[in-house]
Amino acid sequence: MAVSSKLTGAVLLTLVAAALLHFFTRKLQQTSPETQPRQCVMSPPETQPRQCVMSPDRRFDCGRDRVLSRGACEQRACCYSPLTNSSRAPWCFYPHGYPGYTMAGLTPTHRGQAATLTRDKPSYLPGDVPTLHLQETRESAGCLRLTLKDPWARRYEVDLPSGVPQGKAAAQDALYAVKYQTEPFGFVVTRKSNGRVLMNTTVAPLLFSDQYLQLSTSLASSLVSGLGEHYTSLILDLNWTSLTLWNRDMAPHAHANLYGSHPFYMVQEEDGLAHGVFLLNSNAIEVILQPLPALTWVSTGGILDLYIFMGPDPQTVLRQYLQVIGYPMMPPYWSLGFHLCRWGYTSTNVTRRVVQRMHDANLPMDVQWNDLDYAAKSRVFTFDPVRFKDIKDMAEEFHQKGLKYILILDPGISTTSPPGTYQPFDDGLKRDVFIKNATGHLLIGKVWPGPTAFPDFTNPETRHWWEDCIRTFYAQVPVDGLWIDMNEPSSFVSGSLEGCPDTDVENPPYTPRVIGGRLNSGTLCMSAQQKLSTHYNLHNMYGLTEAFATYSALVKVRRKRPFVLSRSSFPSIGRFSGVWTGDVRSDWEQLRYSIPSVLGFSLLGAPLVGADICGFQGNTTEELCTRWMQLGAFYPFMRNHNDRQYASQEPYVFGQKAQAAMRIALNLRYSLLPFLYTLFHHAHTSGDAVARPLFMEFPADPNSQIIDRQFLWGSSLLISPVLEEGAVEVLAYLPPCTWYSLHNLFVIYPLIRVSLFIAKVSSWFCQLL
Ligand SMILES: *[C@@H]1O[C@H](CO)[C@@H](O)[C@H](O)[C@H]1NC(C)=O
Ligand SMILES: *[C@@H]1O[C@H](CO)[C@@H](O)[C@H](O)[C@H]1NC(C)=O
Ligand SMILES: *[C@@H]1O[C@H](CO)[C@@H](O)[C@H](O)[C@H]1NC(C)=O
Ligand SMILES: *[C@@H]1O[C@H](CO)[C@@H](O)[C@H](O)[C@H]1NC(C)=O
Ligand SMILES: *[C@@H]1O[C@H](CO)[C@@H](O)[C@H](O)[C@H]1NC(C)=O
Ligand SMILES: *[C@@H]1O[C@H](CO)[C@@H](O)[C@H](O)[C@H]1NC(C)=O
Repeated sequence: MAVSSKLTGAVLLTLVAAALLHFFTRKLQQTSPETQPRQCVMSPPETQPRQCVMSPDRRFDCGRDRVLSRGACEQRACCYSPLTNSSRAPWCFYPHGYPGYTMAGLTPTHRGQAATLTRDKPSYLPGDVPTLHLQETRESAGCLRLTLKDPWARRYEVDLPSGVPQGKAAAQDALYAVKYQTEPFGFVVTRKSNGRVLMNTTVAPLLFSDQYLQLSTSLASSLVSGLGEHYTSLILDLNWTSLTLWNRDMAPHAHANLYGSHPFYMVQEEDGLAHGVFLLNSNAIEVILQPLPALTWVSTGGILDLYIFMGPDPQTVLRQYLQVIGYPMMPPYWSLGFHLCRWGYTSTNVTRRVVQRMHDANLPMDVQWNDLDYAAKSRVFTFDPVRFKDIKDMAEEFHQKGLKYILILDPGISTTSPPGTYQPFDDGLKRDVFIKNATGHLLIGKVWPGPTAFPDFTNPETRHWWEDCIRTFYAQVPVDGLWIDMNEPSSFVSGSLEGCPDTDVENPPYTPRVIGGRLNSGTLCMSAQQKLSTHYNLHNMYGLTEAFATYSALVKVRRKRPFVLSRSSFPSIGRFSGVWTGDVRSDWEQLRYSIPSVLGFSLLGAPLVGADICGFQGNTTEELCTRWMQLGAFYPFMRNHNDRQYASQEPYVFGQKAQAAMRIALNLRYSLLPFLYTLFHHAHTSGDAVARPLFMEFPADPNSQIIDRQFLWGSSLLISPVLEEGAVEVLAYLPPCTWYSLHNLFVIYPLIRVSLFIAKVSSWFCQLL
């Protein structure tokens, strides 16, 4: 690495950037409740009961489940006070001290304490759970767990695949203190070292009914990240935003629930400390963020099982979270190379030609992929007898060239082949592995091959059947990894071909804001039956359970470290699989948002992640694709992937200058692979992040706290990509530290310096400065 400590042009650029960012940071910090302009038209104070007088920011919505008139609002004993349209604060809100649960005395338990909560008066929701059991458990000095459940009736609880190691209560003093308010029930979690309030749930009542669980808390700062998967900046917008966690096959765009659900957030406490909160719950969840700053969880089922991670720094918060959901898997070395894929490589010969042209153009690659083109009539585990008749020979040729080969597998199993002609279905039927509808018949949806049944991966027999399918498949084509797509699960009919029955799970009293307006939109009926529970409870875990089954099958069949790539995700996905960010569009905005998406998954324990380079949908351009290859060379998972109807975007289709820039980017990545592999080892063994937001390394630097146009690999390699069309320079911010410019690694395109890669020596060295 080139070393220079002179004030180079790059460093001067940096000073300008620092000043600009400083300005933005100040602006961001001004949105505290005290300085917020009062735009509200409050009713005159004399007509407003005292417990209703509060600034709009402090209002917690009393009518989240439905829009309420003044009369209906007051019937709930809530406050009603209209605002002008420019504020998104609720008009109907809880007064101070709104009745809820009452807590009886705490009793000590093995690793904490417990109490009983009761509510005398029913809430406004159907199916109140009138008695709750509260368990406070000290998982470790830095990890507190608070569980609220019905002591009398067993409700659905999340069971992460193959269990999760239980934390050992360490001997050190807890970093937290918890105080309870007995009536109405609430709790306050503080950081012992400085007394900072991290959670205060007395700001609004706790609600716990059969299909509506609600818990609100104040937040220690406005710097909140996590709660994926959404198309947002790294720091979430708290201006009355709602984020829904409900896995959905949906091209990434703003305000939409996407493929994955991760009920975990991290808060930067502004002085460099950080904490995290995980709600272990797999039901449909809506999270409401408001500028107080505050957050409200609304879940449609299960129990409230909260983990609070005390850090005290962002990296430790992540490690504490991973101690609960599991450390990420160790990917095979080759999987860190360049992957090339397209829907529309329509035959083995077309696929061979792609590999040949990459080779002829002197462009490095490690893995060639085929999409569903290979399958006969889109049925997984089959091969097109003409176009892919020699698929095994092709895979073996690739192996001889030192390449790897990956194929797609969708979960939907075609149900319409004549009996005796399609083993996966015949065998699956015999072994009873498919999801059932409410009356116990096969639930039939529709995916690429037409009518399909869906394997229930929560059933151990299904995992054995899946392993058998993969073993037979592998004997026909020696794949090196599997790509599990459409596993939200996605269906082209909502519910099933028969529709869905009219029940409480299909029509819950409250449906979070989901694309399509209904939970079964684009997926299965909520009343569908799986081994562990209803699809209503398990939907968000479908991809995770499939990833677990696929990973386990590959271990058995190939006896090597597996490679699995999943689109749908849930906490723990990183233990079994990498993820990609779905059907991104070929445009500059999507290029730019791919950084917070990748960093988001880093913070959620899925470090092997990337966006489809050059965009999946839409025609890319030479410039966009070149910039995307340059950025993508620093995605932990690097794959160029294109949809079938759009212009080709393999690196060799572009002009010589673009190809040269892509070649340099690829070679740069390849030269850094030992470093990247080492970072994955640290992720796998210690829970460290691979791609890191700047705040992880510079948590006390106000500029670093909000940056999501740059990122780090490990602690010391800063990546500052070009993200704007026509730009030939980057305005990069260098956090306070000694930085060494990698001059010999500047990328030339088109003949102008455009990307800047700089490394610091060590964070230890920086702290001395
Ligand atoms: C808010 O907007 C709606 C429709 O845009 C309008 O009908 C209503 O009068 C507005 N209310 C206020 C208080 O401005
Ligand atoms: C919050 O959103 C409202 C309505 O969209 C807007 O008028 C207001 O400026 C926003 N506030 C901030 C601080 O961005
Ligand atoms: C918690 O919130 C309540 C309601 O806003 C407030 O009265 C109380 O002072 C807060 N407690 C702490 C410790 O900040
Ligand atoms: C591929 O090309 C070779 C040589 O032209 C030809 O013999 C073979 O049949 C082709 N294979 C397929 C599957 O089309
Ligand atoms: C379940 O599937 C069977 C067979 O397709 C159908 O007759 C029945 O109506 C379905 N039940 C429900 C509740 O959709
Ligand atoms: C995109 O590219 C395809 C294939 O090259 C071409 O047929 C199509 O017209 C292009 N679409 C647009 C909108 O440019």
